[in-house]
Amino acid sequence: MNILLTGGAGYIASHTAVVLAQAGHQVTLFDNLSNSQKSVIANLEAITAKTIPFIEGDVRDTQLLSQVITEHHIEAVIHFAGLKSVAQSVEDPILYYANNVQGTISLLEAMQANGLNKLVFSSSATVYGDPEYLPYDEHHPLKPMNPYGQTKLQVEEMLHDVSRSNADWRVACLRYFNPVGAHPSGLIGENPSGIPNNLMPYVARVASGHLPELSIFGNDYDTKDGTGERDYIHVMDLAEGHMAAIDFLEKHSGWHAINLGTGQPHSVMELVTGFEKASGKAIPRKIVGRRPGDLPVYFATVDQAQKLLGWSAKRSLDEMCESVWNFQTKSMS
Ligand code: NAD
Ligand code: WQD
Repeated sequence: MNILLTGGAGYIASHTAVVLAQAGHQVTLFDNLSNSQKSVIANLEAITAKTIPFIEGDVRDTQLLSQVITEHHIEAVIHFAGLKSVAQSVEDPILYYANNVQGTISLLEAMQANGLNKLVFSSSATVYGDPEYLPYDEHHPLKPMNPYGQTKLQVEEMLHDVSRSNADWRVACLRYFNPVGAHPSGLIGENPSGIPNNLMPYVARVASGHLPELSIFGNDYDTKDGTGERDYIHVMDLAEGHMAAIDFLEKHSGWHAINLGTGQPHSVMELVTGFEKASGKAIPRKIVGRRPGDLPVYFATVDQAQKLLGWSAKRSLDEMCESVWNFQTKSMS
């Protein structure tokens, strides 16, 4: 199938591109490079030994998207393009609504103009907000706690309305939990610019000596060791989940929300210990106060993904840490 990946040079999209290309799909990548580098494309071509078309552009450019859809005979879209920093979304909500919501409207217009109706959307567990119960299932109330989460919920609702308006639409909103890890080649992985906000890339930079020590945001939560717990999922599992969603939409119309997680929460301390084992390096750390807006713990029910997509995550926390260390030492040092 000819599949367009918006945000195609980004972290999750690049891993998904590998999985799709290696399964015989033709992928076309579209990205404005606001949070990624063009050099990723050469690495994707090296991994897959295939030519991967790349178009530099903004998803808000409806005309360019429409042209790409026609020229590359696109049959399905995976919409990764968007901004993802919670803190930045609180400081500049307009930027987030413009990129994430307006960007999706533009994509939908381009799709509609070309009679294209198969769409996988990068949603997030952040749509659930403060847990009323755990694990979150897909029926849990949706109450995002910040503008970033609001943009994800608004897009989900918009896509739901669009699928109600026309039964031909096939939409999967994939609610990712905490994606981490890298491709086994070590050629692609998560490479945030500046000081990372997220735990795994921060830990990797402490292990490699690029940052002096990790601050652990609180050890007084009501969790197994007092530190925050999350449902970390290997990006290669996540990538395979996208291919399963594309296959699912071949056979099913309508709107579907599906959690992509492992169903297993791990604490900050477990991740740090796992990374020390994978890297053979000590991770200097100190306990500091809780980070405002952090939840103590959340994780996914994974039955819906298993039932609808026939997919479940396979890779362990150790494999996540090992793959990040491999990427860090091969590509980042
Ligand atoms: P990423 O920043 O690596 O990838 C997003 C890509 O989109 C980047 O390459 C960026 O340059 C591009 N982009 C942003 N705005 C654009 C625009 N207007 N036009 C064209 N391209 C644009 O992030 P990622 O971690 O790969 O996330 C991919 C998607 O998954 C995002 O929508 C994100 O919100 C969502 N998501 C990510 C996580 C996570 O923790 N990484 C969790 C849940 C959901
Ligand atoms: C994980 C744990 C921190 C950094 C974010 C977004 C969410 C989603 C995924 C997109 C927490 C602790 C972290 C550090 C620490 N993104 N931590 N020291 O906050 O669960 O989720 O990314 O949709 O919307 O909010 O991920 O990796 O930042 O934090 O102790 O330097 O690590 O307190 O318990 P989070 P994270």
